[in-house]
Amino acid sequence: MKTYLSGIQPSGLQHLGNYFGAIEQHIRLQGEQGHQFYFIADYHALTTVRDPGELRDRVRETAVTYLALGLDPERAVLFKQSDVPEVCELTWLLANQCGMGLLERAHSYKDKVAKGISPHAGLFLYPVLMAADILAYDSDFVPVGADQKQHVEIARDLAGSFNNAYGEVFRVPEVVFSRHQKVPGVDGEKMSKSYGNDIWVFETGKKLKKAVGRIVTDSRAPADPKDPSSVLLYAFLELFLEADELASWAGRLRAGGVDGPGYGHLKVRLIEAVEERFRGARERRAELLADPAQVDAVLAAGAARARARAVATRDRALAACGLR
Ligand code: ADP
Ligand code: TRP
Repeated sequence: MKTYLSGIQPSGLQHLGNYFGAIEQHIRLQGEQGHQFYFIADYHALTTVRDPGELRDRVRETAVTYLALGLDPERAVLFKQSDVPEVCELTWLLANQCGMGLLERAHSYKDKVAKGISPHAGLFLYPVLMAADILAYDSDFVPVGADQKQHVEIARDLAGSFNNAYGEVFRVPEVVFSRHQKVPGVDGEKMSKSYGNDIWVFETGKKLKKAVGRIVTDSRAPADPKDPSSVLLYAFLELFLEADELASWAGRLRAGGVDGPGYGHLKVRLIEAVEERFRGARERRAELLADPAQVDAVLAAGAARARARAVATRDRALAACGLR
């Protein structure tokens, strides 16, 4: 049986990019044969979140989000990264297989340095910790968004180097992409918490209206024929609507004229679609927030199952390199 593993940073409220780029796929994969492991990358979050209370809240919010959106703890193991400290031991073993150049080329590091953020060693080592996450659970497949591809490649390289040096200890995983590689933000750039262009999956009512209102439009009139790919709101509708309805909006945009929809029409439809898609999940979220003990119990049970695998891998790795 194959193993699927992915992690998500508890770096804030999860947005539509996180949902369509990652979470939706994780939840759909529950239907596949195989073992599923999903974790909240709280060690990784330390590279950016400095407030302990805030980190705890975000971890809980992320767990609640996954469960509310349909993660079934009977079918998938949901846990907190830091409940499996063996990944830190593996990080050290892998760091000693990792050339500096490999990490200097990592986007996560290069982008932050380019933005003038003075990096900690934690940020530099971020991909090694991620490799440890991936390798600890003998993952076959790592479902992530395109921005994480390089990190999975680093994990593959490090597994290869370690195996070359010490024998077959780590399974070499493959990346799997979601259907939606790059969900746009309200400004048309990639949606990201760090760009402030995101829409929270559970946004509703006036706040949702305001968020959708920020989606960039242009000054073309409803009657002007438009290529749907030039309309950012259409890219948002593509995430939500069935093929038939989408084709009808596309046809109306192309034709323009008396039937040409104004951007206001598209916004109203998008708001309805977001409200509708996440209605059930919003209700489950409220129930879960009211019952934190239930969420803690899910994470504790998940940690026990995840840890058993990571301990076995760690023991194998320690023995292979002469530390046992
Ligand atoms: P952010 O950029 O908002 O901090 P994360 O880096 O925490 O998001 O990403 C969590 C997961 O969601 C990753 O698998 C990532 O590839 C995916 N993801 C994030 N933003 C997008 C997006 N705009 N489109 C598609 N996938 C995304
Ligand atoms: N770096 C990933 C992100 O920002 C989160 C992550 C940490 C991860 N460890 C992982 C994803 C292992 C997949 C596998 O989204």
